Amino acid sequence: MSTIILSTLLLSVVLASALQTLNSDEDLQKTGFGHPPPRHGLKLLQWYVNMCLDNNMKALCNPVDGEYGFHPFTNEQELLPKLTDKQQFGYFTIGNLHSPHAQDLPYDVRKYYNHSDPMSNMDRVLVKTVAFKRLIITM
Ligand SMILES: *[C@@H]1O[C@H](CO)[C@@H](O)[C@H](O)[C@H]1NC(C)=O
Repeated sequence: MSTIILSTLLLSVVLASALQTLNSDEDLQKTGFGHPPPRHGLKLLQWYVNMCLDNNMKALCNPVDGEYGFHPFTNEQELLPKLTDKQQFGYFTIGNLHSPHAQDLPYDVRKYYNHSDPMSNMDRVLVKTVAFKRLIITM
């Protein structure tokens, strides 16, 4: 499986177990992540960055609600650093086109999906979320 990780303020790609930081679109292209078709990872990442993040890297989509096929990433193999505070931080994954609600992803991301071709469903994007403590005011 090919995976790309987004965390706040930087883009990182997982290549085997080494984390690499990308600073430009060119860096991203050079990794070969998610293209050419039928791979969908690059389109998925572009959609995510454009539609699910604001200019301050604040999430506009809510992975917790499972929209677009987001689901928790267990990190069992410790691909990513262990989370110490699971109340505040979480890892989520998106990109499996079999997942419930993945059909809500734009056609551009899904168009090469072919059930019989594993290459067309091999890319994933991982995101790390930060829960902001909400202040509840009761009157
Ligand atoms: C889907 O993938 C299979 C296996 O690679 C291939 O034989 C078939 O032609 C593909 N179908 C389409 C519509 O591309």
